[in-house]
Amino acid sequence: MQSTKEIWFNGKLVPWDQATIHVLTHTLHYGGGAFEGIRFYETDKGPSIFRLKEHIDRLLYSANTLKMELPYSANEICEAVQEVVRVNELPSGYIRPIAYFGYGKMGVNPIGSPPQLAIACWPWGAYLPHEAVDIKTSRFIRIHPSSTEVEAKLCGHYLNGILAVLELQGTHYHEALFLDDNGYISEGAGENFFMLKNGVIYTPQLGTILAGITRSTVMEIASKIGYQVVETNITLDDAYQCDEAFFTGTAAEVTAIRSIDDNVLGNGEVGPVTAIIKNAYLDIVKGKNPEYFNYLTVVK
Ligand SMILES: Cc1ncc(COP(=O)(O)O)c(C=O)c1O
Repeated sequence: MQSTKEIWFNGKLVPWDQATIHVLTHTLHYGGGAFEGIRFYETDKGPSIFRLKEHIDRLLYSANTLKMELPYSANEICEAVQEVVRVNELPSGYIRPIAYFGYGKMGVNPIGSPPQLAIACWPWGAYLPHEAVDIKTSRFIRIHPSSTEVEAKLCGHYLNGILAVLELQGTHYHEALFLDDNGYISEGAGENFFMLKNGVIYTPQLGTILAGITRSTVMEIASKIGYQVVETNITLDDAYQCDEAFFTGTAAEVTAIRSIDDNVLGNGEVGPVTAIIKNAYLDIVKGKNPEYFNYLTVVK
């Protein structure tokens, strides 16, 4: 990854190389941390952070599921994020706030280890390697909602994703797709799933997935354009026979799916509806659609 100048580290800016932690940091051992992925884009008005408030609210919700009492309000964290973007002087990039239990004590119970917060940003281009990707169903199911706070974005949840993407090493697949405990499509390792059939857009309902902020943006865009968007259970057979499919996520933005388990969808290219939604999304995040200016925080 490409380094930048400074990282906001527990209340102050420190040089990139000095934002380091003790090896006995609680979260490093047990995964009890919360994080966010946020993008900022170059716009006519300057670098603009997309849906900052929603991301920070989700960060605090996630931290709260761990009973982590951060000594910062949502507003203070939003200010800190803007400061990181400002001092690093990038036109666009990715922001990673992480809240974690620091060095203090060992044992599974994190209470007693100090809550810490760090916020970094760096340039990050496309997350997935192609305009349209080949994906494979994982042999692991998505973490079970009865095992965890499924809508929190917690560090430990990503063990599920790590195992799934490691299975793809050395294959032609670009991303893993999780099913849930009932065999329905859940989501990608770092993205939400959408598909189109006979002009209707379908996406898995909440319950086993991360409630993606891009997912909600895309549902709003698609409805405003005039598509019916249905949140429902989707089987793999439904997906194999769909006309188009795509992933959404802050990092992946809107990325077309070319094939699922080697079943090529449509003509194997970015589908026309996917293209419409992707372009509309990129216009919004880049400040080209006044109707959505309220989703942008311009960094002065
Ligand atoms: C597992 C998972 N699902 C979905 C998403 C998409 O969420 P969002 O659109 O809020 O970035 C992400 C990325 O944060 C993710 O890691």
